Amino acid sequence: MRILSGIQSSGKLHLGNYLGAMKQHIELQAENECFFFIANFHALTTVQDAKVLRDNTLDVAIDYLALGLDPHKANLFRQSDVPEVTELAWILSTVTGKGLLERAHSYKDKVDKGIEPSMGLFTYPLLMAADILIYRSDLVPVGKDQVQHIEMTRDMAGYFNNKFGREVLKLPAVKLNDALIVPGIDGQKMSKSYGNAINLFDPPKETRKRIMSIRTDSTPVEAPKNPDTCNVFAIYKLMATPEEVAALRKKYLAGGMGYGEAKSLLADVVERVLGPARERREKLVANASYVEDVLVAAGKRARSVANSVMADVRDACGIVVSKQ
Ligand code: TRP
Repeated sequence: MRILSGIQSSGKLHLGNYLGAMKQHIELQAENECFFFIANFHALTTVQDAKVLRDNTLDVAIDYLALGLDPHKANLFRQSDVPEVTELAWILSTVTGKGLLERAHSYKDKVDKGIEPSMGLFTYPLLMAADILIYRSDLVPVGKDQVQHIEMTRDMAGYFNNKFGREVLKLPAVKLNDALIVPGIDGQKMSKSYGNAINLFDPPKETRKRIMSIRTDSTPVEAPKNPDTCNVFAIYKLMATPEEVAALRKKYLAGGMGYGEAKSLLADVVERVLGPARERREKLVANASYVEDVLVAAGKRARSVANSVMADVRDACGIVVSKQ
């Protein structure tokens, strides 16, 4: 099975990125042919500073490797190392109605928030569809917020195949990640843009401080508490062992435990998961040329798949590129 997913390099990665996407990606590498890329073309819709974008792109690669992505099992590459995706995005734009893009929730949400949309933001789903279709991906693991984009990808593949009368592009399926919503410290979905994120690789002290500031209700220490409405417990559930989760649930229900104690237990579990990754990360930061080599090699493999699909795409629609 060929699996593909992308993650934008638009800032420091947080627990929501890890639990909602990267963790599943890393688990999938054992049994599948995986293509995971750093969506730097997409990030350019929000990050418009050359140094910041370059640094963020490398940082995402380092984070993936530190968290356990094995470059011998999965292809980890830069989106921009396969520039043909922008060509495919253009070709898809010629068979896709403007109305489809106008119905995109994520675009509408951003406009509703007062963002003045660029064409890049508007055509974001076309490039995302190209990312997926150019590798004839079978399965795309994403969070719930991206499901509509995958449906649009299937629509676009169908428009192309119908228009040119050949089954050139493969319709991908969605794989919904288990951790549907990871709450931030204020209880809303964790997101860089909401300012409520717990970053993956801040210094441990800062991370602990951040966890201690998770919003909880004002139930007094002695009283029993509801684990199922608590933000601390919601994150704990995603990171601790089943036994630990059961034990903490008991403590909530019994009363006599303050939220401070639950937060401290959460901070311990977070450090247990991220501590070893932080150490690997430091080594990778000191060895940037190794990371670069990983990206380059995987980018070449990805590009060679992309080029063979593009040959079929161009042939189907009559675009000629002369040999240079
Ligand atoms: N839009 C995705 C996100 O913000 C990132 C992305 C870009 C992506 N291209 C993709 C995800 C292709 C899956 C497949 O999370």
